[in-house]
Parts: sequence; C-alpha cells; structure tokens
Amino acid sequence: MARVTSASSSDPAPEPRARPIGVFDSGVGGLTVLHELLVQLPCEDFVYLGDTARFPYGERTPEELAGFASQIVEELLRRRAKLLVVACNSATAAALPILERRMMETTLGVDVLGVVRPEALQAVAATRTGRIGLLATPTTVASRSYERAVSAVDPHVTLTAVACPTLASIIQAGQQFDERAVDTVREVCVPLLEAGVDTVILGCTHYPLISPMLQRMLGPSVTLISSGGALARQVEHALSTRGLRNPREQGEGDYRFLCTGDTEAFRELGTRFLQMPLGTVEHVDLEQVGAPA
Ligand code: DGL
Repeated sequence: MARVTSASSSDPAPEPRARPIGVFDSGVGGLTVLHELLVQLPCEDFVYLGDTARFPYGERTPEELAGFASQIVEELLRRRAKLLVVACNSATAAALPILERRMMETTLGVDVLGVVRPEALQAVAATRTGRIGLLATPTTVASRSYERAVSAVDPHVTLTAVACPTLASIIQAGQQFDERAVDTVREVCVPLLEAGVDTVILGCTHYPLISPMLQRMLGPSVTLISSGGALARQVEHALSTRGLRNPREQGEGDYRFLCTGDTEAFRELGTRFLQMPLGTVEHVDLEQVGAPA
C-alpha cells in the first residue's frame, strides 16, 4: 500500500520530476478522480486538497470560485506541485481559463488541467447519434463550458444540459438509495430521455457513485462518461511530454490529504469515496496562504 506522508512545505525543493501532482476539489468528491489517477499513475506522489469548509461549490458564482481556486493553487504551489489538476467540475467550468492565464503569467512553468475538456472529447468520440447529455451542478451548466468544449471538437453535436442542484449533497450525505434520491435521479433523467441522447457526461465528481442507478434509468444503450479516466490519460500525457514523470519505476507513490474543514469528517467521508483509508488529514487555513514558492 502507498505511504501517506506529512512532509512540510518548508522541506528543501526536490527535483521537478520528484514533486507531487496537486489535485483539488470542493470536498471529497474529487477523490473519485484521484482514484483514476492512482490507477493510471501509481508511481506518482499526490497532494489532494478538499475545500470542505466551503462545500458545495455548485451554486456559487464564477467570481467566488475563481477566488477560491486561486487561493488553493497558491497553497498547492507552496507544496511544490509540479502539475495542477482541478478535479472539481464546477471549479473547472468557472475558473479554469483564469487559472490557465495566471499560470502563464508566472515563471513557475506549472500547467493546470481541468475535467471539462477530456470529458467532452471522450463524449464526442463515444456518440453515434450526435446527441449528448450532461448532468452537472447549476454553476457548471450556467458556464456553458461543456457546450464550448463539445462544439470545439464537433460543432454538429448537440448537448442537452440538465442542472442538478441537490444531487451532489444527497450523494455526499450517503442518501443515494432513499426514495427522495431515486426520485431526484429519475427527474433529471427525463430531459435526457426526451432528447434521445446516446451518451451522458457525468459532469460532477459525485455522480460516478450513482452510475449503476443512472444506467438503469437511462437504459443499456446509453454510454456514461466520467472525468477520471480521460483526465488521468491527459495527465499522463502532460507529464511525459514535459519530462516530468516520477523517476520511481515501481512501487507506489505518497499521498497527502489536506482539507479546509473538519479533518475527521474528511477522513471518514473520504474513505467511502476513495474506498481506502486516507490516514492522516492535515487542516489548512487558506486565508493564511502566502505567495507561491
Ligand atoms: N466537486 C463538485 C463538482 O464537481 C461537487 C459539487 C459541489 O461542490 O457543489 O461540481
């Protein structure tokens, strides 16, 4: 099993390839994305930050999310991340262009990748009818970032987007199998069934946890697309082309978990989302974040 470490930000800078990949999300949901990264890139070290004190992100404004994401990025850069992954769909949709610009302005040479583009690419490749559905938070749907990403690949493909205001919180509370949850899921599937989509993008970190229920409601011929696998391949590609793959050739990397809220609650919930024990979780106060290293 991989080691869980608590190395401090004041440790001397390791060589670039040996630095961790920084991953962040509004809370524990991004652990479904981290899972795919661990499968694809077992030799890498990861530092994961969940902004649990400010969860949920799904109905916040783009300005708020850009501010939160910038603070988190500062913290991950202080912890010497060699690549940044925005595992959160709402934060990617609202803030990725701002983060990309900010990274281009610095001389740190650290790239930032989000979940929208890889999912859109995968969905366009999967559809046979040219009709794709999207389930996501209100913030993600309102950003229209999936529409832009899909039409950049193929402008003839149509996207039916359905905003799901309560679904992530229902799943996070562990209520995904009660009547209210089933009714909520059934309701959000209606516009997708009416539009006759053959591919559905799960545009929120929490939704892979209910993919069996979604598959039953949408039918066996609908392909469900989640962000983890496609993003992990993009991360692998980015590390290889930038000469940043960890030189470790076998074994497993180190993981570090940080959160802005209650560490014990993160550890308990996170274990359910990642399906393995998280070990120690460190509390971070983002108001105290200083300039990047
Ligand atoms: N990580 C968030 C997302 O994917 C979960 C939902 C939320 O924070 O509202 O949008």
